[in-house]
Amino acid sequence: MKDILSSFVVFEGLDGSGKSTQARILSRNLASGGRHDVVLTAEPTDRPIGTLVRSVLRHQVTTTSRALALLYAADRSDHLYNGESGILKSLDEGSIVISDRYFYSSLAYQGVTEDMSWLKTINDYPHPEYVIFVDTPAIDCMKRIDKRGEEKELFDRIDYLEKVRSNFLSVFSCLPDGVRFLRVDGLAPLEDQAERISRFVNV
Ligand code: TMP
Repeated sequence: MKDILSSFVVFEGLDGSGKSTQARILSRNLASGGRHDVVLTAEPTDRPIGTLVRSVLRHQVTTTSRALALLYAADRSDHLYNGESGILKSLDEGSIVISDRYFYSSLAYQGVTEDMSWLKTINDYPHPEYVIFVDTPAIDCMKRIDKRGEEKELFDRIDYLEKVRSNFLSVFSCLPDGVRFLRVDGLAPLEDQAERISRFVNV
Protein backbone atom coordinates (compact mmCIF):
# COMPACT_ATOMS: atom_id res chain seq x y z
CA MET A 1 0.00 0.00 0.00
CA LYS A 2 1.16 3.58 -0.68
CA ASP A 3 2.54 5.47 2.33
CA ILE A 4 -0.26 7.28 4.15
CA LEU A 5 0.39 9.81 6.90
CA SER A 6 -2.09 9.39 9.79
CA SER A 7 -3.62 12.54 11.28
CA PHE A 8 -2.63 14.54 8.23
CA VAL A 9 -5.57 16.42 6.67
CA VAL A 10 -5.37 18.19 3.30
CA PHE A 11 -7.77 20.76 1.86
CA GLU A 12 -7.86 21.23 -1.90
CA GLY A 13 -9.87 23.43 -4.23
CA LEU A 14 -9.64 26.17 -6.81
CA ASP A 15 -8.44 29.67 -5.93
CA GLY A 16 -11.48 31.34 -4.37
CA SER A 17 -13.17 28.01 -3.56
CA GLY A 18 -13.37 28.71 0.18
CA LYS A 19 -10.97 25.91 1.16
CA SER A 20 -8.78 28.19 3.34
CA THR A 21 -11.81 29.31 5.35
CA GLN A 22 -12.84 25.69 5.92
CA ALA A 23 -9.28 24.70 6.87
CA ARG A 24 -9.28 27.47 9.49
CA ILE A 25 -12.69 26.46 10.86
CA LEU A 26 -11.66 22.79 11.16
CA SER A 27 -8.42 23.75 12.83
CA ARG A 28 -10.30 25.87 15.38
CA ASN A 29 -12.90 23.17 16.01
CA LEU A 30 -10.30 20.45 16.59
CA ALA A 31 -8.16 22.65 18.82
CA SER A 32 -11.09 23.93 20.88
CA GLY A 33 -11.85 20.51 22.34
CA GLY A 34 -8.45 20.71 24.04
CA ARG A 35 -7.75 17.09 23.11
CA HIS A 36 -5.52 17.89 20.15
CA ASP A 37 -2.54 19.99 19.21
CA VAL A 38 -3.32 21.27 15.74
CA VAL A 39 -0.87 22.69 13.21
CA LEU A 40 -2.45 24.66 10.37
CA THR A 41 -0.10 25.08 7.44
CA ALA A 42 -0.21 25.83 3.70
CA GLU A 43 1.51 25.41 0.34
CA PRO A 44 3.20 27.33 -1.13
CA THR A 45 4.88 27.72 2.28
CA ASP A 46 6.23 30.95 3.76
CA ARG A 47 9.74 29.47 3.74
CA PRO A 48 12.39 30.48 1.14
CA ILE A 49 11.29 28.22 -1.73
CA GLY A 50 7.61 28.98 -1.15
CA THR A 51 8.35 32.69 -1.06
CA LEU A 52 10.03 32.40 -4.44
CA VAL A 53 6.96 30.58 -5.77
CA ARG A 54 4.71 33.40 -4.47
CA SER A 55 6.82 35.96 -6.30
CA VAL A 56 6.29 34.01 -9.54
CA LEU A 57 2.52 33.91 -8.87
CA ARG A 58 2.53 37.69 -8.34
CA HIS A 59 4.38 38.28 -11.63
CA GLN A 60 7.45 39.67 -9.82
CA VAL A 61 9.71 36.89 -11.13
CA THR A 62 9.26 34.99 -14.38
CA THR A 63 10.24 31.42 -15.09
CA THR A 64 9.02 28.45 -17.14
CA SER A 65 6.05 26.28 -16.31
CA ARG A 66 8.40 23.31 -15.88
CA ALA A 67 10.68 25.19 -13.48
CA LEU A 68 7.64 26.32 -11.48
CA ALA A 69 6.48 22.69 -11.20
CA LEU A 70 9.91 21.79 -9.81
CA LEU A 71 9.79 24.70 -7.35
CA TYR A 72 6.39 23.58 -6.02
CA ALA A 73 7.77 20.05 -5.59
CA ALA A 74 10.91 21.35 -3.85
CA ASP A 75 8.85 23.57 -1.53
CA ARG A 76 6.78 20.47 -0.68
CA SER A 77 9.85 18.39 0.16
CA ASP A 78 10.99 21.14 2.51
CA HIS A 79 7.45 21.45 3.93
CA LEU A 80 7.34 17.74 4.73
CA TYR A 81 10.87 17.05 5.88
CA ASN A 82 12.55 20.20 7.22
CA GLY A 83 13.71 19.62 10.77
CA GLU A 84 12.37 22.87 12.29
CA SER A 85 8.71 22.93 11.43
CA GLY A 86 8.25 20.09 8.93
CA ILE A 87 4.98 18.17 8.69
CA LEU A 88 6.62 14.89 9.65
CA LYS A 89 8.14 16.42 12.76
CA SER A 90 4.76 17.81 13.86
CA LEU A 91 3.04 14.45 13.22
CA ASP A 92 5.77 12.63 15.16
CA GLU A 93 5.15 14.99 18.08
CA GLY A 94 1.49 13.93 18.07
CA SER A 95 -0.08 16.96 16.39
CA ILE A 96 -2.82 16.88 13.82
CA VAL A 97 -1.55 18.68 10.72
CA ILE A 98 -3.96 20.47 8.39
CA SER A 99 -2.52 21.71 5.12
CA ASP A 100 -4.18 24.18 2.80
CA ARG A 101 -3.04 22.45 -0.46
CA TYR A 102 -0.65 19.58 -1.12
CA PHE A 103 0.67 17.67 -4.13
CA TYR A 104 -2.82 17.18 -5.64
CA SER A 105 -2.62 20.91 -6.46
CA SER A 106 0.53 20.29 -8.50
CA LEU A 107 -1.16 17.48 -10.43
CA ALA A 108 -4.23 19.64 -11.06
CA TYR A 109 -2.62 23.05 -11.80
CA GLN A 110 0.68 22.07 -13.40
CA GLY A 111 -1.18 19.19 -15.11
CA VAL A 112 -2.76 21.77 -17.42
CA THR A 113 0.61 22.37 -19.10
CA GLU A 114 2.94 19.56 -18.02
CA ASP A 115 3.04 15.81 -18.49
CA MET A 116 1.07 14.03 -15.74
CA SER A 117 3.43 11.07 -15.34
CA TRP A 118 6.42 13.43 -14.94
CA LEU A 119 4.45 15.42 -12.33
CA LYS A 120 3.64 12.21 -10.43
CA THR A 121 7.34 11.26 -10.48
CA ILE A 122 8.50 14.57 -9.01
CA ASN A 123 5.64 14.49 -6.48
CA ASP A 124 6.09 10.98 -5.16
CA TYR A 125 5.23 12.05 -1.64
CA PRO A 126 3.14 10.20 0.97
CA HIS A 127 -0.61 10.68 0.83
CA PRO A 128 -2.49 12.23 3.77
CA GLU A 129 -5.10 10.29 5.74
CA TYR A 130 -7.83 12.80 4.80
CA VAL A 131 -8.42 14.77 1.61
CA ILE A 132 -11.22 17.35 1.56
CA PHE A 133 -12.09 18.86 -1.80
CA VAL A 134 -14.05 22.11 -1.54
CA ASP A 135 -15.67 22.00 -4.94
CA THR A 136 -16.76 25.42 -6.18
CA PRO A 137 -17.44 26.07 -9.89
CA ALA A 138 -14.74 28.12 -11.61
CA ILE A 139 -17.19 30.89 -12.48
CA ASP A 140 -18.09 31.43 -8.81
CA CYS A 141 -14.41 31.32 -7.82
CA MET A 142 -13.64 34.02 -10.38
CA LYS A 143 -16.46 36.20 -9.02
CA ARG A 144 -15.03 35.87 -5.50
CA ILE A 145 -11.49 36.66 -6.72
CA ASP A 146 -12.80 39.73 -8.60
CA LYS A 147 -14.61 40.88 -5.45
CA ARG A 148 -11.37 40.81 -3.43
CA GLY A 149 -10.14 43.55 -5.72
CA GLU A 150 -6.55 42.31 -5.54
CA GLU A 151 -4.12 41.92 -8.42
CA LYS A 152 -4.83 38.64 -10.23
CA GLU A 153 -2.29 35.85 -9.68
CA LEU A 154 -0.85 33.63 -12.41
CA PHE A 155 -3.65 31.03 -12.56
CA ASP A 156 -6.65 33.30 -11.84
CA ARG A 157 -8.36 32.81 -15.23
CA ILE A 158 -11.63 31.04 -15.80
CA ASP A 159 -10.44 28.84 -18.68
CA TYR A 160 -7.43 27.72 -16.64
CA LEU A 161 -9.45 27.06 -13.47
CA GLU A 162 -11.97 24.97 -15.41
CA LYS A 163 -9.17 22.69 -16.59
CA VAL A 164 -7.75 22.55 -13.06
CA ARG A 165 -11.13 21.43 -11.69
CA SER A 166 -11.36 18.67 -14.24
CA ASN A 167 -7.82 17.53 -13.34
CA PHE A 168 -8.73 17.51 -9.63
CA LEU A 169 -11.73 15.29 -10.36
CA SER A 170 -9.64 12.78 -12.28
CA VAL A 171 -6.85 12.76 -9.66
CA PHE A 172 -9.38 12.19 -6.86
CA SER A 173 -11.08 9.39 -8.77
CA CYS A 174 -7.99 7.21 -8.31
CA LEU A 175 -6.79 7.82 -4.76
CA PRO A 176 -5.21 4.77 -3.14
CA ASP A 177 -7.08 2.64 -0.59
CA GLY A 178 -6.74 4.08 2.88
CA VAL A 179 -7.05 7.72 1.87
CA ARG A 180 -10.36 9.09 3.13
CA PHE A 181 -11.87 11.50 0.64
CA LEU A 182 -14.70 14.02 1.05
CA ARG A 183 -16.09 16.39 -1.58
CA VAL A 184 -18.05 19.30 -0.20
CA ASP A 185 -20.19 21.68 -2.21
CA GLY A 186 -18.40 25.03 -2.04
CA LEU A 187 -21.67 26.86 -2.74
CA ALA A 188 -23.41 25.38 0.32
CA PRO A 189 -23.69 27.59 3.44
CA LEU A 190 -20.33 27.82 5.25
CA GLU A 191 -21.72 26.28 8.46
CA ASP A 192 -23.13 23.28 6.57
CA GLN A 193 -19.77 22.66 4.89
CA ALA A 194 -17.98 23.01 8.23
CA GLU A 195 -20.34 20.60 9.95
CA ARG A 196 -19.89 17.92 7.29
CA ILE A 197 -16.12 18.32 7.46
CA SER A 198 -16.05 18.11 11.28
CA ARG A 199 -18.11 14.91 11.20
CA PHE A 200 -15.85 13.44 8.54
CA VAL A 201 -12.52 14.06 10.27
CA ASN A 202 -12.64 11.50 13.00
CA VAL A 203 -9.44 11.96 15.00
P1 TMP B 1 -3.31 29.65 -2.73
O1 TMP B 1 -4.21 30.52 -3.55
O2 TMP B 1 -4.02 28.47 -2.12
O3 TMP B 1 -2.48 30.40 -1.77
O4 TMP B 1 -2.29 28.96 -3.77
C1 TMP B 1 -1.46 29.75 -4.57
C2 TMP B 1 -1.56 29.38 -6.02
O5 TMP B 1 -0.62 28.33 -6.32
C3 TMP B 1 -2.90 28.88 -6.52
O6 TMP B 1 -3.15 29.50 -7.78
C4 TMP B 1 -2.70 27.41 -6.73
C5 TMP B 1 -1.25 27.33 -7.11
N1 TMP B 1 -0.58 26.05 -6.83
C6 TMP B 1 -0.10 25.31 -7.89
O7 TMP B 1 -0.27 25.68 -9.05
N2 TMP B 1 0.57 24.15 -7.62
C7 TMP B 1 0.80 23.71 -6.36
O8 TMP B 1 1.42 22.66 -6.16
C8 TMP B 1 0.30 24.51 -5.25
C9 TMP B 1 0.55 24.07 -3.85
C10 TMP B 1 -0.39 25.67 -5.54
